[in-house]
Amino acid sequence: MSARSSYSCFSCFHLFLLVFKHGLTNESQRLASWVAKNKDCCTWSGISCDNSTGHVHHIHLPGSDGHCDILSYGMTLKGEISHSLLDLKQLKHRDLSCNDFGGIQVPKFIGSFQNLRYLNLSYSNFGENIPPQLGNLSELHVPSLESFHGPFYETTNMANMKWLSTLGMLHHLDMSGMDLSKATDWLQVINTLPSLVQLHLSGCELSNLHMYVLSVNLTSLSVLDLSYNDFNTPVSQWIFSVTSLVSLDLTDCRFHGPIPSFRNLTSLELLHIAEMIS
Ligand SMILES: *[C@@H]1O[C@H](CO)[C@@H](O)[C@H](O)[C@H]1NC(C)=O
Ligand SMILES: *[C@@H]1O[C@H](CO)[C@@H](O)[C@H](O)[C@H]1NC(C)=O
Ligand SMILES: *[C@@H]1O[C@H](CO)[C@@H](O)[C@H](O)[C@H]1NC(C)=O
Ligand SMILES: *[C@@H]1O[C@H](CO)[C@@H](O)[C@H](O)[C@H]1NC(C)=O
Ligand SMILES: *[C@@H]1O[C@H](CO)[C@@H](O)[C@H](O)[C@H]1NC(C)=O
Ligand SMILES: *[C@@H]1O[C@H](CO)[C@@H](O)[C@H](O)[C@H]1NC(C)=O
Repeated sequence: MSARSSYSCFSCFHLFLLVFKHGLTNESQRLASWVAKNKDCCTWSGISCDNSTGHVHHIHLPGSDGHCDILSYGMTLKGEISHSLLDLKQLKHRDLSCNDFGGIQVPKFIGSFQNLRYLNLSYSNFGENIPPQLGNLSELHVPSLESFHGPFYETTNMANMKWLSTLGMLHHLDMSGMDLSKATDWLQVINTLPSLVQLHLSGCELSNLHMYVLSVNLTSLSVLDLSYNDFNTPVSQWIFSVTSLVSLDLTDCRFHGPIPSFRNLTSLELLHIAEMIS
């Protein structure tokens, strides 16, 4: 299946991308510049390359120009994500957000991009579990895996988050909207990510706030968003031990009981703690 075996060409990146294009459906407008007669795929829309090596570094193909509220689904990619992308070994940045992949699982082979630093698969209608192979992306700084809760879109879920703990470089993690109700170990895993600067777990069906944890090691964390999770417990002490926090969102977390002292959160600038009346 490898294009390399049938062609002898030094950099076949355009061929791998064309195989990817052919796995998609209804992409004609979005990928109109992706044509075989223009072999310089670095000029194709959504592609950029390293100027000195010519390797494809970025695939930047958010649907709806990245404005993906659910009503504006317009120019979206659909269909399959071909294995041919695996041949783009130097890929650093991959944004396929706001597309519509029909509820398929995030492809396991994405875990093989050893150089990937940015991965955005938000709002792209991926379903099933996040494959643990994503834990192999040791260079990953920013994964973005938000998903819609809408009735027509699958939510992405996973039973545990251990795969994340190998991602030591992670500084921005957004899994809002994913079903993490079975990820009871979420705080232990998060606590192994000392570089984390932003953590967004809004609407993740988290139910365990780890009440008895008094402090955590998240010394770089500046944004913590736990909004829209139905904890239904007192606020846990560990949140108030994250002295680096600048923004804290606890909207509609159904807390009860007294709120511990904010005294140690000396950098805090934004606090959302409203409860919606339903
Ligand atoms: C690569 O080349 C393009 C076009 O000549 C230029 O706009 C871009 O800034 C260059 N990028 C780097 C990293 O040198
Ligand atoms: C991922 O993509 C969405 C939609 O294009 C965008 O709103 C979001 O900011 C991106 N996430 C990150 C971490 O860049
Ligand atoms: C194909 O894409 C166009 C816009 O690019 C959209 O209007 C049309 O509904 C899409 N067709 C299907 C079958 O998704
Ligand atoms: C990727 O991760 C899987 C599951 O965690 C593991 O079995 C596999 O050996 C890893 N592959 C590489 C290339 O590290
Ligand atoms: C916090 O970090 C310290 C030093 O790195 C380590 O000894 C300790 O076990 C960590 N605590 C937790 C709860 O992970
Ligand atoms: C604030 O910090 C002090 C000193 O580190 C500690 O003893 C205290 O428990 C902290 N208070 C809260 C509410 O975390």
